[in-house]
Amino acid sequence: MQQKIKKIINKKNKSKIVSLTAYSKNIATILDDFCDIILVGDSLGSVLYNYKSTREVSLDTMIEHSKSVRMGIKKSLMVVDMPHNTYRNSKEALKNAKKIMSKTKCDAVKLEGGKKISQIVRTLVKNNIPVMGHLGLLPQSDKNFKFKGKKIFEKNKILKDAKLLETAGAFSIVLECVKTSLAKIVTKKIDIPTIGIGSSNNCDGQILVFDDFIGLNPIDVRFVKKYSNIKKVMTNAVSNYAKDVRKKVFPLKKHSYN
Ligand code: KIV
Repeated sequence: MQQKIKKIINKKNKSKIVSLTAYSKNIATILDDFCDIILVGDSLGSVLYNYKSTREVSLDTMIEHSKSVRMGIKKSLMVVDMPHNTYRNSKEALKNAKKIMSKTKCDAVKLEGGKKISQIVRTLVKNNIPVMGHLGLLPQSDKNFKFKGKKIFEKNKILKDAKLLETAGAFSIVLECVKTSLAKIVTKKIDIPTIGIGSSNNCDGQILVFDDFIGLNPIDVRFVKKYSNIKKVMTNAVSNYAKDVRKKVFPLKKHSYN
């Protein structure tokens, strides 16, 4: 097992795992100093491309953004989402995961689902491709985006799926929008770390979508704490630039080649 993956697993019950998404080099460079894991999430479909769902994201789009992100990372573990319809069976998953790994030089891939994909996870891990799981709200397949774990059958299924993913060899599991009490149980019952998004502080780590928490993406959901209002900062900059150009105070001599 890769040293970097071992380091992430060893953090369980010791220190919280810090994770964020990135879709480009400059952002990845900022995150790398502070994060343990940087995820090139297929959330880029909604955040950058305004797609109706992440289902529209292609493998090539993920690869191009990941190549950019790779250039910004020196130390963090880089994980790339496998997009919808790229892992419908073991053969397809292995071919596409190998392509992602070789073209982007990432450290691991992430797949959504439990029992349905456990054999696929096993195949990838056997072929030395580290896998991060993703349970709870599954944007690639869920019809309604409600938090999970309220109903008993849902709770049992998520717990069972988490154990299946662990047995299949996943090195960690994202828990998206899972009820606080269920996040606690899952985190306790498995030996690999859980990374929560909207799943309380009962998880071993946290992840947020970068554009959401810096206040660039106009999203208003309970689990996103806004750490900045970058939209305001950017709006001011653009407004000042427009004024300067119109008043002919930009560019000055010092910005020009004489
Ligand atoms: O696509 C993504 O950004 C994700 C995170 C929300 C975990 O899967």
